[in-house]
Amino acid sequence: MKRMIVTLVASLGAGALLWACAAQTGAQPTPTGADLSGTALWSSLQAQKYTTWKMWPGKTALYQGTEPHGALLTTYVNGAALDAIQGKRGTMTAGAIVVKENYMPDKMLAAITVMYKVKGYNPSSGDWFWAKYTPQGKVEAEGKVAMCLGCHGAKADNDYLFTGVLR
Ligand code: HEC
Repeated sequence: MKRMIVTLVASLGAGALLWACAAQTGAQPTPTGADLSGTALWSSLQAQKYTTWKMWPGKTALYQGTEPHGALLTTYVNGAALDAIQGKRGTMTAGAIVVKENYMPDKMLAAITVMYKVKGYNPSSGDWFWAKYTPQGKVEAEGKVAMCLGCHGAKADNDYLFTGVLR
């Protein structure tokens, strides 16, 4: 049993690493099973040091947010997402990642919410993988999260995004 767990952890780790490398070269991770999980996405974000990414164009650190995300927000985008925003491409391309840090009014980090576009993952709802983490990286929600979609669905014509206009 113990050995099984060790093997599982090792293969998850390798998956996350491969994924991180794939993301850096712009290739797509395989949206299958263990590879696509909140935990694997978190590892990949850490490996890619997402806080070194560009912020959402026009937004600076700790801009004012609305309910339910928090008083102050800092939103990072990876290369694929930046390209879609700047190129007014209408939708984000596969591989796009948006990471939003949600802060309390006193600038304490409260949660991190992520949208990750995975080709074929959820075609009827924009192919977004949703995830919410504590500041320590504990997964609080992941996958095709009804709560996230229930609200972001109002923006289906803007690829489920509230911030900015994609066309
Ligand atoms: C009740 C509505 C609502 C719910 C529920 C919600 N969001 Fe949002 N989300 C927003 C709004 C509004 C914004 C724009 C930023 C702002 O003004 O707060 C936003 C922004 C975002 C962004 C930045 C990209 C964008 O769309 O602007 C991400 C990433 C995000 N939300 C992830 C999530 C995740 C993950 C969940 C579920 C765990 C979730 N959201 C649930 C309303 C919602």
